[in-house]
Amino acid sequence: MNRLSPAIAAEAPPYDVERVRADFPVLSRVVHERKGKPGRPLVYLDSGASAQKPRQVIDAMVRFMEEDYANIHRGVHVLSQRATDAFEGVRDKVAAFLNAPSRDTIVFTGNATDAINLVAATYGRAFLEAGDEVVLSIMEHHANIVPWQLLQAEKGIVLKVVPVDDDGVLDMDAYAALLGPRTKLVAMTHCSNVLGTVTPARQIVRLARERGIPVLLDGSQAVVHGRVDVQDLDVDFYVFTAHKLYGPTGLGVLYAKYEHLKRMPPYRGGGDMIQSVSFSGTTFKEPPMRFEAGTPPIVEGIGLGAAIDYVEALGRDAIALHEHDLLNYATQQLSQIDGLRIIGTAPGKAAIISFTVEGVHPHDLGTVVDQYGVAVRVGQHCAEPLMDRFGIGSTARASFALYNTRAEVDALVDSVRAVKEFFGA
Ligand code: ALA
Repeated sequence: MNRLSPAIAAEAPPYDVERVRADFPVLSRVVHERKGKPGRPLVYLDSGASAQKPRQVIDAMVRFMEEDYANIHRGVHVLSQRATDAFEGVRDKVAAFLNAPSRDTIVFTGNATDAINLVAATYGRAFLEAGDEVVLSIMEHHANIVPWQLLQAEKGIVLKVVPVDDDGVLDMDAYAALLGPRTKLVAMTHCSNVLGTVTPARQIVRLARERGIPVLLDGSQAVVHGRVDVQDLDVDFYVFTAHKLYGPTGLGVLYAKYEHLKRMPPYRGGGDMIQSVSFSGTTFKEPPMRFEAGTPPIVEGIGLGAAIDYVEALGRDAIALHEHDLLNYATQQLSQIDGLRIIGTAPGKAAIISFTVEGVHPHDLGTVVDQYGVAVRVGQHCAEPLMDRFGIGSTARASFALYNTRAEVDALVDSVRAVKEFFGA
């Protein structure tokens, strides 16, 4: 994720958020309508959990199912060929989106969690031994902790955890000090789903590279909020998920340097990943097919392709600028509320704001603001170690997307004030 330069900011065309919103059918929805009560316009501030879908994505998936649907890689008939071309075209699109060197470095998985599990279960199981170390950070999502703990239980690897400071900035001195002769992998978030902290990915990779250590970055939040170039980062593994990028659920992406994919044993066995099967021995296809057993999420692939087209048409830098404005405005407005504490204030953070309000449990806050139409996530955000680090059980989290507005920030602020009043806090 590269920072925006002021030159780009000055040249960016005006961002027409109302036109963007018109692409998302759900955003015109009213919630909590009751007899005699008009309800509230939906204020969707939970895109960090899952983003809403534009008409372009919905239509592409419906059109594909109505006109071109068939299983892929298996048929000589016209629909199978058209479906195969469309699905494989998405692999090219994803490669271009990440600036990957080749389409063969893109593996489709079930989601980002599945992609990390793939690396742990293949690369990890094959190349890590008892006593080898994997370096993570305290702000990892459970998806980038538990697969390594499963490997720890199986093989006796050791997990080393890089701390963050009170702003949520990764401690790079501690990181450098943790890279030792037994470190065999760094597995780190590129953007915290709780704090919004964008980690210094280039520096993380460079320090590891100097010691010959490969790096996996979890880009689930990062690809949504900024431009990612895997060659520029020189990262070994990069994962993200379609549903946070305005695409459908059920599909994730693993980018891996081909030299790694080539050495990695198969993950799941089944159809489409084999060259030849017999009871005396089975041979496997080359990557990426070797890692894609069974019928893949074909329709979802079409949806991801349309989502990438959508984001590229709006412009990733323009989206980042828009979200940046929302982040600044929301931070400023929320900070004026007595007793509200923002968790995560790292410079250059992405448009995610976790917060607590003195005297109000986050679950109660989430429930009451929902009555005002405001959707936020509350809880541990699948990042329990990070909650412990900040000495809190849970937070409320507003996460902003390309379709949010300053008026929605105002609605959030008004609803939080109403919560305080309601609870006398
Ligand atoms: N990882 C998702 C979130 O942060 C579910 O909400």
